[in-house]
Amino acid sequence: MSLTINILLILIAITVIKIALISIFFYGEIRIAQKKDPAAKSFLEVVLLYQGLHALVAYRVSHIFYKLHMFFTARFISQIARSITGIEIHPGAQIGKRFFVDHGMGVIVGETSIIGDDVLLYQGVTLGGTGLKQGKRHPTIGNNVVIGAGAKILGDITIGDKSYVGANAVVIKDVPPNSTVVGVPGRVTKQDGRKIEDSLDHIHVLDPIKQTIEELEKRIEKLEKG
Ligand SMILES: CC(C)(COP(=O)(O)OP(=O)(O)OC[C@H]1O[C@@H](n2cnc3c(N)ncnc32)[C@H](O)[C@@H]1OP(=O)(O)O)[C@@H](O)C(=O)NCCC(=O)NCCS
Repeated sequence: MSLTINILLILIAITVIKIALISIFFYGEIRIAQKKDPAAKSFLEVVLLYQGLHALVAYRVSHIFYKLHMFFTARFISQIARSITGIEIHPGAQIGKRFFVDHGMGVIVGETSIIGDDVLLYQGVTLGGTGLKQGKRHPTIGNNVVIGAGAKILGDITIGDKSYVGANAVVIKDVPPNSTVVGVPGRVTKQDGRKIEDSLDHIHVLDPIKQTIEELEKRIEKLEKG
C-alpha cells in the first residue's frame, strides 16, 4: 500500500476517533445545541459544523493547561480556536455545563468570567472588563441565562439566574434573577414575569439620556400650559 493511502487512512481514523470522543464527552452540549437552535437538523451536523461546540471543546482543553499554570500553551490553544471559530474564550474563564454559543462569530469571554450551567450566548456577545484593574474584573453569569446578539456585559457584575439580556444591550450593573434587561445602558424591563414600568422602578433607573428627555418634555408641557 502506498504511503499516501496509509497517511489518508490514519487521518480518517483520527477524525473518526475525534468525532467519537466529542460525541461522548460533549453529549449534553450537543443535545442542548439541537434543542436551542431550531435550525440544527442532526446530531452529526452539530458535531461537525457548529463553531460554538468546537470553541467549547478547545476551551475545555485549554482550561486544563491553564489550571496547570501552562499559560502559554493554554493561550496558544485558545488563539488557534479563535482564528478558526471567531469565538475567543479565555482559558482562565470558568464555564458550567451545557454551555452553548449559537452562530458565535465575535464572542469574547474574558479571563475572570464565571458562567453557570445551561447558558446560551449569541454572536457578538462580550463578557468584558471595564479597565485595567487586576483580579476579578469580568462578569458572573448565573444558570439558565440567555444573552442576545451583540450584548456587552462589562465589569465584575452578576447576571442573575434565568435572566434574559436583550440583543445589543450594554449591561454595567447587576441584574436580579428572572429578569429581562434591554438597552444602553441596560435597564430591567421585566422581573419575575412582571413588566417593570420605568417611572415606578427606582432601582433600575439607568438611562440618563431617557431621563433628561423626560425632564425636558415635562418642562415643555409646563411652558405650553403657560
Ligand atoms: C430582550 C428579549 C429577550 C425580549 O424578550 P421579551 O421578554 O419577550 O420582551 P418583549 O418582546 O415583550 O419586549 C419588552 C420591551 O423591551 C423592548 N425590547 C425587546 N428587545 C429589545 C432589545 N434587544 N433592545 C431594546 N429594547 C428591546 C420591546 O420593544 C418592549 O418594549 P415596550 O415594553 O416599550 O413595548 C428579546 O427581545 C431579545 O433581544 N432576545 C435576543 C434574541 C437574539 O439575540 N437573537 C439572535 C438570533 S440570531
